[in-house]
Formats: sequence, structure tokens, C-alpha cells
Amino acid sequence: MKKADVIIIGAGAAGMLCAARTAEQGLSVRLVDHADTLAEKIRISGGGRCNFTNIGATWENYVSKNPRFARYALSNYTPQDFLALVEKYDIAWHEKHRGQLFCDESSEEIIQLLYRECQRAKVIWHRPCTVKDVEKREGLFHLNTTDGLLQAPHLVIATGGMAAPPIGATDFGLSIARQFGHKIVEPRPALVPLIFDGILWESYKELAGISLEARIADGVGKKAQFFIEDILFTHKGLSGPGILQISSYWDGHSPLYLDLCPHIDLERVLIVDKQGSKQQLLTVLSQYLPKRLAQHFIRKNQLKEEQNWAEVPDKALRQLALSIKEWQIQPKGTAGYKKAEAMRGGVDTADLDQKTMESKKVSGLYFIGEVMDVTGWLGGYNFQWAWSSAIACAESL
Ligand code: FDA
Repeated sequence: MKKADVIIIGAGAAGMLCAARTAEQGLSVRLVDHADTLAEKIRISGGGRCNFTNIGATWENYVSKNPRFARYALSNYTPQDFLALVEKYDIAWHEKHRGQLFCDESSEEIIQLLYRECQRAKVIWHRPCTVKDVEKREGLFHLNTTDGLLQAPHLVIATGGMAAPPIGATDFGLSIARQFGHKIVEPRPALVPLIFDGILWESYKELAGISLEARIADGVGKKAQFFIEDILFTHKGLSGPGILQISSYWDGHSPLYLDLCPHIDLERVLIVDKQGSKQQLLTVLSQYLPKRLAQHFIRKNQLKEEQNWAEVPDKALRQLALSIKEWQIQPKGTAGYKKAEAMRGGVDTADLDQKTMESKKVSGLYFIGEVMDVTGWLGGYNFQWAWSSAIACAESL
């Protein structure tokens, strides 16, 4: 029987930071992970450069049944706090876009930072190690593992979400939560491309490869949930940062509304400026949209590319502008966990303490990171949640 004060299952972003900080406080910590390679999700993140935080992260950047749950942890351990740790390890970084901080060199630097923090604090590793079952008896958690029996009064579940199953993502955390009587908010792929019905998408296939800025709203929160971000046409549907963002809000059946020309009052420029022009319709519309997309919408509106702009009736121009500014499209589904960057849903926060991440149902049991029903926007928010929830938990142990 191998004993410890704390056992943490999952040596990813949240698990390693929590283990290091807890052990630094003088507690004995055993960190268990089933994967052969350490922290693969960090390694592949941010295109290999790990977008390790977002400098502006607040609870409003998270999707959850109760987004305010994240408020305490995020203000207790902020993006600046993690940045200070990054700088302590002399890791060069840069801000890419809207507060997104990336390593200049490689994600490996963040993995090494976490690993060295764990080594310095004398965390005991069990890796690769599979947990066969977990029980709580007489105030202690008993874990039957491929490394033998482990026992501790505190158990932290940091096994992440189900995105990217080929690199070790599992629903283990959700099963443990259910075993101990926790409710689960239905898990679904998030930050994921959207796919469309083959017949519907046939006419859009020719647009594959086009990328442009769009304003996107989902059917439910047509007014509330929108982003102006890049979208990308693919052979099967839509991708790009804007689509990944809205995918975390999409309810699975409503249409999406896209404004493909978000910074221009297209109806006004097409109607008011046409007087006396000798330009062709395609030439004009191509000033505001990629040429192939302009051609597509002209044809879809039964107009002709070479038509003289000044001669197109106002009514037809109004309809053309509307079809571009309020493009309504019905996704068939998502590209699934294989292509997702996160899981939406997870362990319901209603039964967790927002200051400690401890279960309100089973004392000594904690959930941190992506396994919980707290899903960040694209852009470093998910790692920030992993760091902030890990520290909130560690400080309470
Ligand atoms: P994480 O997934 O990091 O760790 C979970 C650990 O638990 C893993 O080591 C796993 O092996 C282990 N585990 C799982 N099941 C187990 C079991 N049954 N037994 C034992 N161990 C088990 N976020 C962001 O903020 N910026 C970014 O740039 C990116 N980029 C990105 C790219 C891609 C392709 C993906 C798939 C995801 C991202 N993310 C991201 C999301 C980010 O990677 C994710 O939110 C965090 O890693 C979550 O941290 P956790 O510690 O909760 O889980």
C-alpha cells in the first residue's frame, strides 16, 4: 500500500501545476497518468507553440451552465500570475492576437516548466499507470492501479476533457464523478469545425480555401452570441477561429447567421454609389469580398458577373447585400472530438465549491481543469482555467 496526503489523477496542465503547488506546501503528492508521453495536449497546443494564457481572461470568456463559478479562481490566480512563472523560467513569449500569449519557441518549454516545478517540489510520479478502480472507505480514497494500491485522504481528478482521443483523452473523470453521485452537464465537442449536409454543401465546395472575417451569431442567441473573427471554407463545411468560437455555443440544431461583410453597410454602398458607374457588378463586389465568394453570391442571386453595376435594379442589389450580410446556414453537426480543441459540459459546477474545487457531496474529492463544466473561448482561456482551478485547489489542501 503506497500512501500519500494527496493523489492527483491526470498529469496534464491542471494536474501538474496542482501537484507542484500542493507538494511545495509540504504535502506528499502522488501524480498518476496513463499516457506514455507526458502532457501531449500541451505539446500539440497552439500549433506547437502553446497559447498558454490570454491576458484579458475573465469569467465572461467561459461557456458553462454557471460561468460565474469561474470568477473566484480566475481572479485568485490570474494570467499575470502564470506569466510571472513563465518569465521565471526565461521562456520567451509574444502576444499574437487579442491578448493571446504564445511561446516564441515551443510548447515543450511549458511542459518542462511544469515538470521541473513538480521535480523541485518532490512530487511522486506514477506514469504510465492505469487506475482500475477507486473507492472511498473510512475517510480514505483507495485506488487499485497497475502500480499497486494507492491510498490518500484527498483525491484530485484532473483527467481533462474528451477532445483529441488519439492522444489519451478519456471520459474517466466523468465516470468517477458519476460514481460519487455528481451530475454531468452533457459533454459535447467544442472549439470544433462545423460540417454541413453533403447536398446542401455541394454548391459551396468550390469555395474551399477562402478565408475572410465574418460576424457570426448562433440561432439561439442571435443577438447575444456573436464574434467578428476569421472563418474558413472547407470541403466539408466551415472552420477557422470564428466558427470554432461559435461551435461552443451552438445548440446542435439551430441555424447560424453570418455577416460576411461585417464592417461595411453593403446595401448603402451598392445602391448609393452606383450612379453613373461603368464598372461590372463582379468588380464592385470583389472590393468587399474575396472574388470567388463574390461570384458565388452574384450567381446565387440570379445576377450576372459582367452586368453593368449601374443598371442592376436597387431591389436586386438590396437582396444581394442581404444575402451576404445575413447569410443563414444550417450545420448538420460538428467534426467531433477528433477535431475539437475542447469539451463543452462536464462535471456540473453546482456541486463543487468555487473557492476550492472540492465536491460538496464527497469530502476530499476535487475536480480541476477541463473535466469540469467550464469551457474557455479559443485563445488561451482553457489553459488559464487549468492554471487557475489548479491553484485554487492546491491552496485549499
Ligand atoms: P489535459 O488534457 O491537459 O490533461 C489530462 C491528463 O489526464 C492527460 O495527461 C491524460 O493523459 C490524463 N488522463 C486522461 N484519462 C486518464 C485516465 N483514465 N487515467 C490516467 N490519466 C488520464 N488551450 C489553450 O488554452 N490554448 C491552446 O493553444 C490550446 N490548443 C489546443 C490544441 C488542441 C489540438 C487541443 C486538443 C486542445 C488545445 N487547448 C488549448 C485546450 C487545452 O489543451 C486543454 O483545455 C487543457 O490541456 C486542459 O487541461 P487539463 O489539465 O484539464 O487536461
